[in-house]
Amino acid sequence: MSEIPTEHRLDGTAEFLSKGYEFLPERFRKAGSDMVRTRLMMQEVTCVQGEDAARMFYEPDRFTRKGALPPTTLMALQDLGSVQRMSGPAHRSRKRMFLSLMSPQRVQALGEEFDRQWRARLATWAERGRARLYVEAGEILTRAVCAWAGSPLDEPEAGRRAREFRAMIEGAGSAGPRNWRGLALRARTEHWARRLVRKVREGELAPEPDTALYAVAHHLDVDGERLSIPVAAVEYLNVTRPTVAVDRFIAFCGLALHEHPQWRERLAGDDDSLLEAFVQEVRRFYPFFPAVGGRARQAFEWRGVRFEKGDWVLLDLYGTLHDPRSWTDPERFDPERFQRGEANAFNFIPQGAGEVAKTHRCPGEWITIELMKRAVRQLVSGMTYDVPPQDLSVDLGRMPALPASRFLMTGIRPA
Ligand code: HEM
Repeated sequence: MSEIPTEHRLDGTAEFLSKGYEFLPERFRKAGSDMVRTRLMMQEVTCVQGEDAARMFYEPDRFTRKGALPPTTLMALQDLGSVQRMSGPAHRSRKRMFLSLMSPQRVQALGEEFDRQWRARLATWAERGRARLYVEAGEILTRAVCAWAGSPLDEPEAGRRAREFRAMIEGAGSAGPRNWRGLALRARTEHWARRLVRKVREGELAPEPDTALYAVAHHLDVDGERLSIPVAAVEYLNVTRPTVAVDRFIAFCGLALHEHPQWRERLAGDDDSLLEAFVQEVRRFYPFFPAVGGRARQAFEWRGVRFEKGDWVLLDLYGTLHDPRSWTDPERFDPERFQRGEANAFNFIPQGAGEVAKTHRCPGEWITIELMKRAVRQLVSGMTYDVPPQDLSVDLGRMPALPASRFLMTGIRPA
């Protein structure tokens, strides 16, 4: 059996929370290995990085997410009874429900709703003369996803929901007040979602059959039972909340266009494959989810190392997306790498790896890509704007990361 380089320390949680995305890559660099044992949350954990590690980690049903979150996500993003905590046939059945919402027609319908909402708000930005892309994208996404998912919002409610979604996501990567605020607001949002499910079941609300609200209210699990109201509500939030989180990637799209202005011109034509390559590079290059965690469901061996049932493993997503073994010149922003075929299902893993139907890989990638493409089109061809002096730095010690200024635009005019 091989030996894994091991760090002898009491606990690295505080350091993880302060170093953020750089914590895991630093462990591998110091150990001179892509597998390192350390301690987090007072427990032993094996950290792994790279394409081979992703293949090992995303072997279907090898790991459960129960009790396996990285310290960065604490509890704000994982809910009792939700798809993330399931395994085996029960997980596949619940996952099919999510994937049934992602047909090309439905993804396009969300995209069209997003464009409608964008155009409606554009007039107000032009009047105000300024807008922060991250904040505005969150407002647009909240309205668009709720309308698409079966629960259109009136104006005062839309503002409240947008704030709650944002706080939940902001709280996910921290300990202390930011996290507590997320948890407190989550209770309110859950209450809202439970009320919606109850209304559908009682016939007071009749969402279209292809919507997420209809799906969670009527889905039958493998045991032939409907989801309980709390679980149905949690799954409704598992569609709506992460869609609003695409606001971060949209802020990074704005930043990438600003930092690489030659791409504005190239994207102004209608070459869809170029646009797709651009947003894929944004998903690779800029930080979002730092890592995913799993606990071994059975003992197994990998590279001559034995993992026991219950062992905790963390896969470094950010480091894998910047791993020079997979990417030429990984610190260069280069969309064309996607046209050269550098990416595959195990090295390009901003939202997980492998087969989406059989693993915990994110079911929302098509939505994410579609929304990012629409946002870039709007920024390039739908409006003109200036980017005044501001702090655009991205602090890798803060999870989830963002440009410090949230990307301020001024002098906004519809094109
Ligand atoms: C799972 C990232 C958008 C719904 C995940 C995972 C990651 C991730 C890293 C965990 C994979 C694992 O545990 O192996 C992201 C990022 C997004 C995003 C960075 C960009 C905003 C979305 C969207 C949806 C969504 C738009 C809407 C449907 C989910 C669900 C799971 C998940 C339901 C759990 C899947 C399972 O356990 O089988 N996502 N996601 N996500 N995501 Fe996303």
